[in-house]
Formats: sequence, C-alpha cells, structure tokens
Amino acid sequence: MKYDTIAPGVKYIGVDDLDIDLFEGQYEVPLGMSYNSYLIEDEKIAIMDSVDARKTDEWVKNLEAALNGKTPDYLIVQHLEPDHGGSVKFIMEKYPNMKAVCSQKAVAMFKRFFDVDFGARLQVVKEGETLSLGEHTLQFFMAPMVHWPEVMVTYDQKAKILFAADGFGKFGALSKEEEDDEGWACEARRYYFNIVGKYGAMVQNLLKKAATLDIQQICPLHGPVLSEDLGYYIGLYDTWSKYEPENEGIFIAYCSLHGNTAQAALKLADIIKEKSDVKVSTSDIARDDLHEAVEDAFRYDRMVLCAPTYDGGIMPIMEDFINHLRIKTYQNRKVAFVENGTWAPASGKKMREAMEAMKNITIIEPIVTVESTVKAKTIEDLKVLADALIG
Ligand code: FEO
Repeated sequence: MKYDTIAPGVKYIGVDDLDIDLFEGQYEVPLGMSYNSYLIEDEKIAIMDSVDARKTDEWVKNLEAALNGKTPDYLIVQHLEPDHGGSVKFIMEKYPNMKAVCSQKAVAMFKRFFDVDFGARLQVVKEGETLSLGEHTLQFFMAPMVHWPEVMVTYDQKAKILFAADGFGKFGALSKEEEDDEGWACEARRYYFNIVGKYGAMVQNLLKKAATLDIQQICPLHGPVLSEDLGYYIGLYDTWSKYEPENEGIFIAYCSLHGNTAQAALKLADIIKEKSDVKVSTSDIARDDLHEAVEDAFRYDRMVLCAPTYDGGIMPIMEDFINHLRIKTYQNRKVAFVENGTWAPASGKKMREAMEAMKNITIIEPIVTVESTVKAKTIEDLKVLADALIG
C-alpha cells in the first residue's frame, strides 16, 4: 500500500486493481485503478466505504491488519456504485453488529443491489448531521449526482479531512502513481469529464459546501490523497464544473476513411502552428482513446471536427464522439468543421446542426470542404479557417 497512516487515527486500507481492462466496462486504464477505503479508529471504529468485489479479499486483509483484532462499529457508505459498494454485503455479514451509515437515497439501492433487508442496521443521516466516534466527529453532506443520487461526502472535524467520494478522483492505481509522469490533472480530468462531467451544477453545489470547511486533506475514493496546495485541485474542479475552458488552444478531432480527411486535419494543425503560438492538440478518434478526446474537447476553448460524409451523414465514429459531448453537456466553446465528400458532401452541415444544438456554441466559419483529396484549393481554404481559428 502506498499509504499507511493518513492522519492520527486515520489509516488507508484501499486496494489497487492492476488486472482491470476497462473501468466501468468502457474507460481504458493503462495504469490500473485504485478503490480507496479508509479506517478511522477512535472509541468507535468506522470504515469509510468498501471496494469493488473484484478485490474483496485483499481489502479484507488490509482491514483486518488495521483493525488488529478489533471490531468495526460503522461502515460509512458514501457511494453504492459497485466499484465501492461491491464488498458491502460481504462485510455486513462478516460483522453482524456493524451499522451502515448512508443517505436516505441509498436505502432503496441497498435492497436493489444486495437483495437483503438490513432493517435497522442502516443508519440514515441527513444533510449536516454528525456522528461522534469519540474524538473524531464525522459530519455528512449530501452530494447528489456527484456522481449518483445517493452520494454523500464526509468531513472529519478533528482530522480536517474531507472524504470526497468520487470527487477529486483519478484513474490509475496508487502503486503506479510514479509512472504517471503527466501529473494529477491529466488523468483526473479524463476521469472528471467522462464520469462526472454531466453534473457540473451539482459539483458546484458541493464546492460551495466544501468552501465552508477547514480542509487539510482530501481523501477521494480513487487516486491519491491530496494533502498540499488544495487550492490548485479545488480551482480545477471549479473551472471544470463551470464548463469553462481550462486552457486556450485548438483541439482538432478527426476521423478518416482513406486518409484524406486525416491529411486535411493534420495540415490544418501545421498551418496553425506555422502562423501562431496557439497550442494545438489532435486526435484520430478512431484510433486514439475517445475518452481522452472528450477530455481535450473540454480542456480547450476551440475545437475543430473533421469527418468524411458517410451514408449521407457523418462517419459513425464522429457521430459517436459528438454524442459523447452532448451527453456530457459540452458548451461554451468555439467550434469549426472540415468535411469531405466525393459526390454529395453532407458531414459539415450535419456536424454543425449537432453542435449548434448544444449550449453557447459559437461556430467559426468557413466550413472547409475537402473534395475527395487535399489539393491546392483545400490548403487555401484551410489557411482561411486557420486565420479565423487563431482570431
Ligand atoms: Fe467510483 Fe461512481 O463510482
């Protein structure tokens, strides 16, 4: 384990998952995933969340080592998605006198997931309610839709720790943190926009509650414990959840049937770089990680979508990408288009219609049409578009 003691009386008992191929069955996690769990030892003992059923055995070993023969009084269930709730039933059966502390919304989910009526063993807490463990007093704050309706976060008033559920989470196992040389923000951003991104307003509500607390450490359910420079992390969450661009720059997302649209997209990137110092990032959305493309779309203030016409519409992978953006409520950005077509180009118009349906999207003209292949005329058109994008 990367951590042992987080603060006096607070231990890390979570696990890494290096075997998982896709988190939530869809997200690539080349450095694995951590399912964090913590133990608060006081006159009463509380476990902060369980872990995915894939790792129950390892977690129970960590838990028993930390308990050193003692018996836990409470399991604090902040979130019941199976990456955290997957070992709840097992641990409730192992410690039959232990209570599970959860939000009202979690109660119905207990029944749905576990098909067991835990009855009075479920101790429901409300907004702002406290639970004394002795010296440590836990205070609960509801955080609906960050990232499910039943989510709550927990503030340890003595240790000044915010247990933030999925908030401030990050892809990557803790044992692989040193291999992640891109820093916290890269994989935390990919995690945020793909998993929590739809619920910016709810994240804003949570940040407002957090602002009233004296927080020394943030303990999320995925990724590292955050102990220093908390303003940096909170500032990024504020930017992301307001749907404001984090960086000035142009993200070019492209797909290509035979390489011609790709050639136009990469030529546009070169022209922008020749003409300006504006940061340019590109993604072949059929070959690169689509979820990283979603991340980059939100990261920068400008985006260019480049796709060929296909069956009278848009090449399907680009339709899929646009749908991802729609679901995650992409907004407040400038967007341009490059289309391709041999007999009836239509992808530009279709992409424009799809993007214009999103909130506060400014279209940058002109739409560049590649007529089958990149020619001198195409390059002249791309130069005009580059000037408009650079602004
Ligand atoms: Fe980490 Fe929403 O579960």
